[in-house]
Amino acid sequence: MPATIVIGAQWGDEGKGKIANLLARDADVVVRYQGGNNAGHTIVIGDEVFALSLVPSGVIYPNVIPVIGNGCVIDPKVLLEEMATLRHRGIDPSGLKISGNAHVIMPYHRKLDAVRERFLGKNQIGTTKRGIGPAYLDKFSRDGIRIQDLYDPKIFHNKLNTALREKNQILTKIYNQLPFDSAAISEEYLEYAARLSDHVADASLLVWQAIRDGKNVVFEGAQGTLLDIDHGTYPFVTSSNPTSGGALTGVGVGPKDIDAVLGIAKAYISRVGSGPFPTELDDDIGSAMVEVGGEFGTVTGRRRRCGWLDAVALRYSVRVSGITELALMKLDVLSEFAMIRIATAYRSGDTEYPDFPRQQRVLYECEPVYEDHPGWQTDISGVRSFNDLPAAAQSYVRRVEELAGVPVTMVSVGPDRAATFEVGR
Ligand code: GDP
Ligand code: IMO
Ligand code: MG
Repeated sequence: MPATIVIGAQWGDEGKGKIANLLARDADVVVRYQGGNNAGHTIVIGDEVFALSLVPSGVIYPNVIPVIGNGCVIDPKVLLEEMATLRHRGIDPSGLKISGNAHVIMPYHRKLDAVRERFLGKNQIGTTKRGIGPAYLDKFSRDGIRIQDLYDPKIFHNKLNTALREKNQILTKIYNQLPFDSAAISEEYLEYAARLSDHVADASLLVWQAIRDGKNVVFEGAQGTLLDIDHGTYPFVTSSNPTSGGALTGVGVGPKDIDAVLGIAKAYISRVGSGPFPTELDDDIGSAMVEVGGEFGTVTGRRRRCGWLDAVALRYSVRVSGITELALMKLDVLSEFAMIRIATAYRSGDTEYPDFPRQQRVLYECEPVYEDHPGWQTDISGVRSFNDLPAAAQSYVRRVEELAGVPVTMVSVGPDRAATFEVGR
């Protein structure tokens, strides 16, 4: 595996946490490279369920150094709470390393996220309201506060006061909200900083050294290709780069340091929040996917929108992230259906789009072109090898890899870590 990027190949919630955790068993370092606590990664080990939002999935294992890279935005309160929960459950997060260059989510970011969404009304993005977008906005407008700034009180106060001068004007005059108090925020955040001080490290150097020394490093993506700020369905996206390029800038390593890009895709597709979704099913089949697949958000509890697998979008993900292999998740959920569909192209008017259209309007207007596959309609959740899958399920997997253009090397048939097997060639 040496250095493997685990990436969401759809609109998030594909099962990245499960696979990152599985790979972490043989890893030395697991590093998150973008996003923040908008992510919700579920790991099921026997009776134990862990829902992680910021701490990398590898934290479960004592052999792994969990790292939060510079490309992430960190809400220190949430991070400390997550670490406390882990401790409470017998997992020691004391080895966690945090990049000093990661940006800090401040209370005004959370507030601005919520009031902007309200302001957008029917055009709202459906964000997780965790302050992710406003924190990245400050990063890119160079008004952000980084983790390392918390350890330099003069710089911190200066940055905080400068930020508040502007934010408080926006909050009071545009959004009719109460202003934030600098002293209160400062006291709160300096206390968080004191509690996190042992964790702050040169994350880029640490990961680079691990790769140089031939260790196994897992880059754990959050969200997915179609939520990428550049390559996703803008503006209905998150404010970072979940695609593989984000792993490089979000940690500080180069393309040659990476050995594999493992795309994670459900055997169908889901999205939570607003935005175009060509294969969305507003019928009983869509509802069955939600019920059987347990498609409710880990972070916000929202019902996820569901539909048939979209091979156009999957091929696009493979291309823009340089995905070298796929893990196909939740195949068990499709056992429900007598007939299973895959979208192989979009049709809009007289035009057929075998490739992801460059004009986003097409995604709203198009009808998917489907090919139909016979279902298997037997419980496959106990299957532990590819050859033991029903023939129809095997041929479905083979067709997915044909359409995606890369091999499916792993199949998942249940939430539990054990309900996964490799696919032989
Ligand atoms: P992530 O954000 O990509 O890590 O994915 P989430 O954890 O948000 O969502 C995936 C959900 O599907 C979680 O509840 C997992 O426990 C569950 N899950 C993962 N793999 C499988 C699978 O193969 N079958 C079923 N039925 N559930 C799965
Ligand atoms: P994981 O890592 C699914 C979605 C939100 C919203 C949009 C922007 O668990 O796959 P944000 O709060 O990021 O500004 O919201 O992105 N979104 C996710 N959808 N899985 C996620 O993470 C997501 N993180 C953000 O629902 O549509
Ligand atoms: Mg999730």
